[in-house]
Amino acid sequence: MPKILVTGGTGYIGSHTVVELINKGYDVVIIDNLFNSTINVLEGIKKITGTKPEFHKFNLSNIIFTNNFFKDNKGIDAIIHFAAFKAVGESVNNPLKYYGNNIMSLNNIMAGMKDYNISNLVFSSSCTVYGQPEEKHLPVTETAPLQKANSPYGNTKQIAEDIIGDVLNAENNLKCIALRYFNPIGAHESAEIGELPIGTPSNLVPFITQTAIGLRDELSIFGKDYNTPDGTAIRDYINVVDLAKAHVIAIERLVNNKNKKSLELFNLGTGKGVSVLEAVKSFEKVSGVNLNYKLVERRPGDIEKVWADTKFANNELGWKAEKTLDETMLSAWKWEQKLRN
Ligand code: WQD
Repeated sequence: MPKILVTGGTGYIGSHTVVELINKGYDVVIIDNLFNSTINVLEGIKKITGTKPEFHKFNLSNIIFTNNFFKDNKGIDAIIHFAAFKAVGESVNNPLKYYGNNIMSLNNIMAGMKDYNISNLVFSSSCTVYGQPEEKHLPVTETAPLQKANSPYGNTKQIAEDIIGDVLNAENNLKCIALRYFNPIGAHESAEIGELPIGTPSNLVPFITQTAIGLRDELSIFGKDYNTPDGTAIRDYINVVDLAKAHVIAIERLVNNKNKKSLELFNLGTGKGVSVLEAVKSFEKVSGVNLNYKLVERRPGDIEKVWADTKFANNELGWKAEKTLDETMLSAWKWEQKLRN
């Protein structure tokens, strides 16, 4: 079976994707610098799959380390590149950390692909590239106009897609599928792996589960005056295992040369917009916990509403998100409880 390099493979989406790749019989190698994850994730992957993937710890923004890796590790058929910093708020306060790491690591990965004849790349992109779509562009399709990114983090995703496009134009043997995620949430049903925010979570669902388990006093819901049915912001929350499965399909499409263009872009969401209050109510229903929350001012940089038009991914990839919001919230809760016990 093909050998897949997964950068950021001990991270949240990376680890869930490694599980699905191993389950499909792929040989997986992980590179991660453990800035945003822990080595214990490998044990979780082994408990689920019976396989502990090969692991290399170094920073991909270092060209020497990265080039040496490719020189010493031949036979890679495809790369899934997750490794990047992803906290929107932090990127506003520390843009150089984001431009340095996210852009340099992509640069070094693509140089390795070029120099060592690795032709297949699946890139972890984000719906942030759309900014706040205009009403007429909701649900948002892959051809919707990109807006100026709301944050350096979002800008690194836009720049990355441009870099990939330019390199593919220059190197005719390379091909890429860029997956634009909406809001990944939840955890593997085994509760052996899940989201592991370091410090205070910036994302909604880990903050909900940490509040419910008593780690946080209360959830602040940012914004109650948006132009939405209940006044809170709307997102497209997608189960992380559904998302991981889409990566395996993308890899299969590339290694079997089924792609129709050298760079293909897919929105990965459920196609359903869910407000913050609706997400909270879903959590309360499945957990039986009355969540302590308050409605406060909007968070700077947030957009009002975005959800995906998933027809292209459904039809072209034969992929569709299957898990419901309730099932996904329950998986997040089971993971939080496992973490704290
Ligand atoms: C969701 C909603 C918040 C926390 C970002 C990135 C995106 C992806 C996911 C990497 C918003 C509200 C949140 C809280 C709240 N990252 N919220 N109280 O900002 O939509 O997307 O993370 O792939 O690329 O842009 O996700 O979970 O932070 O927020 O009310 O304590 O929940 O205002 O409306 P976001 P989020």
